[in-house]
Amino acid sequence: MTTLTNRQVRLAKRPVGTPGRECWSFTHEPVVQPEDGGVLVKILALSLDPAMRGWMNEGKSYIPPVGIGEVMRAGGVGTVVASNNPAFAVGDTVNAGLGVQEYCLIPAAELKASGIFKIDLRVGSATQWLNVLGMPGMTGYFGLMDVGMPQPGETVVVSGAAGAVGQTVGQMAKIKGCRVVGIAGGAAKCDWVVKELGFDACIDYKAGPGAVRAGLKEHAPKGVDIYFDNVGGEILDDVLAKINRKARIIICGAISQYNNTAAVQGPKNYLSLLVNRARMEGIVVFDYADRYHLAVAEMAGYLKDGRMKSKEDVVKGLDTFPETLLKLFNGENFGKLVLQVAESE
Ligand SMILES: NC(=O)c1ccc[n+]([C@@H]2O[C@H](COP(=O)([O-])OP(=O)(O)OC[C@H]3O[C@@H](n4cnc5c(N)ncnc54)[C@H](OP(=O)(O)O)[C@@H]3O)[C@@H](O)[C@H]2O)c1
Repeated sequence: MTTLTNRQVRLAKRPVGTPGRECWSFTHEPVVQPEDGGVLVKILALSLDPAMRGWMNEGKSYIPPVGIGEVMRAGGVGTVVASNNPAFAVGDTVNAGLGVQEYCLIPAAELKASGIFKIDLRVGSATQWLNVLGMPGMTGYFGLMDVGMPQPGETVVVSGAAGAVGQTVGQMAKIKGCRVVGIAGGAAKCDWVVKELGFDACIDYKAGPGAVRAGLKEHAPKGVDIYFDNVGGEILDDVLAKINRKARIIICGAISQYNNTAAVQGPKNYLSLLVNRARMEGIVVFDYADRYHLAVAEMAGYLKDGRMKSKEDVVKGLDTFPETLLKLFNGENFGKLVLQVAESE
């Protein structure tokens, strides 16, 4: 084991705009065995998330930025290959903050912060544990259920509909008896959310100027009760123009703004909140960590009985990380973006 090498991707510089390969350095070091209470995880797959772009920036956020020279932060699944902790046995599959690398040594003192927990591959595949049963699924579930509070018959609109968070939100809203309208880029993604996931409609925001406004008029004729916003920008303004009285807008993310070099574009139509006695609320998924198990149990049931489906877009190879990450920002990912680091044992 001591002769094994751990290849790693580290943050080399803070990006301006879209992060290119120059922002990363590739390093390697020997794999180190865990000391008392620690575990060593061989990484199988990593979750690539839009939030990674924010973690590359200097400045205050809900979590500290990744330091220059540090291994890039990433959640992932892996196999315990050495353990000095009775709670984890060699061969266990775990989900944790593992970093963009091949092996992650988690010392005892860092176990809690890593969020490590064992996953059951009979409940969901490794990639589903990064999707519906993982962080994006938890985001969609708690954002919709706790902040959106969907009622049967209400109209729910979700942007980034074919993505990781969006697919959970739309399917949960259908299960709760809502009319669901997705917004996504391109006909293939729109077809998939309607035909495979059972959304009532999906608006292709890339179809041309005014496509979102026209699509909302057609597919949300009674107005919008809940908007789950993953993208921000103009789409947020278009939806704000269609909200109903007491509408709930969940600010989950604003991916259209993450690579901007100019100031973030805020909503121009915010007075619609006043007119409609509506509210807009941000969410951070980690706030719900003590209830993840409840959402996992519920959605694992839906996956099993076929009421929910999941789609993951798996790209192989640690070396592809810089380019693979960018798929999130040009819409090339179709489903939850996962970087496969190793073949499963
Ligand atoms: N608050 C939280 O705790 C939390 C947790 C997880 C994720 N998030 C946020 O949730 C959002 C979705 O994350 P995800 O992991 O599910 O990613 P994702 O939707 O799987 O992938 C990102 C998608 O965003 C869309 N996109 C990219 N640029 C866009 C633009 N300029 N305008 C409109 N859409 C654009 C693309 O889809 P199209 O092809 O449809 O354009 C792309 O596939 C992100 O904003 C993320 O930051 C928040």
